[in-house]
Amino acid sequence: MQIEEIPFAVPQTVYPPREDSWLLAQSIPKLGGKKCLDMGCGSGIQTAALLLNGAEHVTTVDKHDEALTTAKQNLASHFDIQKVEFIKSDLFQNVKGSYDFMVFNPPYVPSKEMKWSDTDGGKKGREVIDQFLDQFHLFLSPEGVCYLLQSSRNSLMLTQQKAKEVGFDCNIVALQDVPGEELQVLKLQRSTPEEEETS
Ligand SMILES: C[S@@+](CC[C@H](N)C(=O)[O-])C[C@H]1O[C@@H](n2cnc3c(N)ncnc32)[C@H](O)[C@@H]1O
Repeated sequence: MQIEEIPFAVPQTVYPPREDSWLLAQSIPKLGGKKCLDMGCGSGIQTAALLLNGAEHVTTVDKHDEALTTAKQNLASHFDIQKVEFIKSDLFQNVKGSYDFMVFNPPYVPSKEMKWSDTDGGKKGREVIDQFLDQFHLFLSPEGVCYLLQSSRNSLMLTQQKAKEVGFDCNIVALQDVPGEELQVLKLQRSTPEEEETS
């Protein structure tokens, strides 16, 4: 089954799969046997993509009940739902354990206020992104990898700086031009110690 074949039904209160969702979902690598986390699940599209790529288990998180209920309904008819744990949480507040692979399509749209929690990212669109970057590394296994979606309007350099502060490299693995911005999928993984120079 391909991710594009799955119909994702959502009520008006839940973020439907959009260009950013598809870009992130289609960039997910093979994950045979890996323990994964989908932060901010919305319709459940990223959890579906994780399972289609072989995830052994997915912890699916959102801060809204409607998103969790919707994701569960969308996933139940196509996947073994025993492989998925649904957790209501504001970012990592109620999350435990460590994960091999993590995805987040955050609210990243620059906004004056934080009114719509599926899209509004506050100043530079970075409010939720920065909170996530402060914490994600605490929930990744030593070889763990995180794919984070953001826009060129959020500043790649700022994300790379914050990643570096916690010992992570940050590189673009997929991108797409949309009107007024470029959507970017960033891969975050622990920096390897530089090889010692031999003299
Ligand atoms: C842009 S939507 C992405 C939805 C889905 N993952 C996708 O790719 O289409 C952002 C999602 O993050 C959730 N969200 C926003 N802030 C959050 C937070 N602090 N903790 C957990 N989830 C959050 C929203 O409820 C929404 O479902």
